[in-house]
Formats: sequence, C-alpha cells, structure tokens
Amino acid sequence: MIEIEGVSLSHRGTPILHEVSLALPKGELTALIGPNGAGKSSLLSVVARLQPLQSGSVAVDGLPVDRTPSRELARMLTIMRQDTGFAGRLTVRELVGFGRFPHSRGRLTDEDRERIDEALALFDLTALAGRDLGTLSGGQRQRAFVAMAFCQGTDYLLLDEPLNNLDMMYARQMMRLLRKVVDRRGRTVVIVLHDINYAAAYADRIVAMKDGRIVAHGPPNDVLTVGRLEQLYGYRMQVHRIDGRTMIRHHD
Ligand SMILES: Nc1ncnc2c1ncn2[C@@H]1O[C@H](COP(=O)(O)OP(=O)(O)OP(=O)(O)O)[C@@H](O)[C@H]1O
Ligand SMILES: [Mg+2]
Repeated sequence: MIEIEGVSLSHRGTPILHEVSLALPKGELTALIGPNGAGKSSLLSVVARLQPLQSGSVAVDGLPVDRTPSRELARMLTIMRQDTGFAGRLTVRELVGFGRFPHSRGRLTDEDRERIDEALALFDLTALAGRDLGTLSGGQRQRAFVAMAFCQGTDYLLLDEPLNNLDMMYARQMMRLLRKVVDRRGRTVVIVLHDINYAAAYADRIVAMKDGRIVAHGPPNDVLTVGRLEQLYGYRMQVHRIDGRTMIRHHD
C-alpha cells in the first residue's frame, strides 16, 4: 500500500500540493486524472522521491520513503516520468537494461537478460532492440521507457502519461498489458491519464486532482459524473453508461 499523509509542496513560495492524503491499496490499477497543472506529476514525484518531501509523510509497504535507502526503494517502486529526456545514442535494449540496475548494478546476470528479453517482447520492441533511441518514432520511444520501468520488476509502478504518442492500437495494448500486470502478477500500477475513457475502462479506482488537491477518489462510475467532470475541466460533457462502463462524449 502507498500511504500519503498530509503532503504539501511548494516551489519558491508558490503552493503546489495542499495537504494531500491518500491511500492506494496494493494490487490495484489507479488512474490519476485532472487538468494540466493540477499537481499529478508533482504528487508522483514526491512519492518516488524525485522531489524531497517538504511536509507530511509517504510510506510504501510501511517504509517511509524519505528514510529508506535508494537501492531498497528502487527494488520496491519505479517511476516513469512524463518528460523522460533521452540519450540518443543508447539502444532500446540498453535502455530497458537500465531497469535492472538496482538488481545487477551494471553487471547483467542471465536472469537480468531474460527479464530484458521478456520486457522487449511484451512491449513489442524485440525488432527494435538494437536501434538507437534517437532513431525511433515518439510512440516507439515511449514504449521503450515503459518497458524499462517494467523491467525493474518492482511491486509498484508509477507511470506519468504512458499513453503519450501511442496510436490507438498501442494505447489499448498498453492498458491491457498494465491490467494484466496487476491481475496476474499482483503488481500495483498508478498511471496518470488524460483520456477519461481509458481510465474508466481499465482502472480500479480514479483519483481526481485539481489545484493541488484531491477532489474525488473512488471507483470510476462514482467519480466520473457530469458535475465532477465540470468541476475538474470547466465545461459540461455527456456521461454515458454503456454495458455498465462510463463513457464520455463531448458536446460540440
Ligand atoms: N519546479 C517547479 N517550479 C515552479 N512551479 C512548478 C514546478 N514544478 C511544477 N510546478 C507547478 O506546479 C503545478 C503542478 O504541476 P504538475 O506538473 O504537477 O501538474 P500536472 O497535473 O502533472 O499537469 P500536466 O497535466 O500538465 O502534466 C503547475 O502549476 C506547475 O507550473
Ligand atoms: Mg504532469
């Protein structure tokens, strides 16, 4: 479980997160939604310790992240950032192999190599394994970064907008894969998404943020109401339930 208690964050006096408290149970897929600037990436960064904790507490499986050695944390939790930045001269296989670093410290074992091959295959990257990242399309590169995070083999996987640049086929495949990782391997996935329909279709729970606060938290059908979505995004959209699942349509 990820337990966030009273976390506030500010940058040079500007408040970004206000007393955020949230518990994310193990073995679920949580979608973090909300408008640009809501604080989604900031919250994930604090949980993954990319940002130092300023106030409040964050614990993963009971371990406080600000007092857990990096190497130990890296075996429990991984984050894929929204702006990955990339070294163009790195091959896809090398990048995915970085995910094994907390385990192998740079000396890959046979098991590490097996995990790398598995991640490459899962994310449909085997044919691209020898290519430099700089030569890939945006969506191919995005898949390589998610594969690296997956390859780390942690129980907790935080992914900031992993569907960026993916076409419809790969976006669907990515969501199905993440669902499988949760259902079959008991992993915990927290994913920032802008596409509400994907959140509704694949997430166990949705956390909605606005202005550095959590404004709603619960199963998709409870969170995704006309009023709530208008509060979040500032306009009215149509909310349909089709086969028990929420779907959003936009008025013209
Ligand atoms: N290093 C920083 N210095 C100053 N302000 C920052 C910094 N990082 C983030 N912010 C501000 O904090 C707020 C929340 O940013 P954050 O990146 O967490 O939003 P987000 O919900 O991930 O948005 P998006 O959907 O656009 O990715 C924004 O107003 C942003 O400008
Ligand atoms: Mg963001």
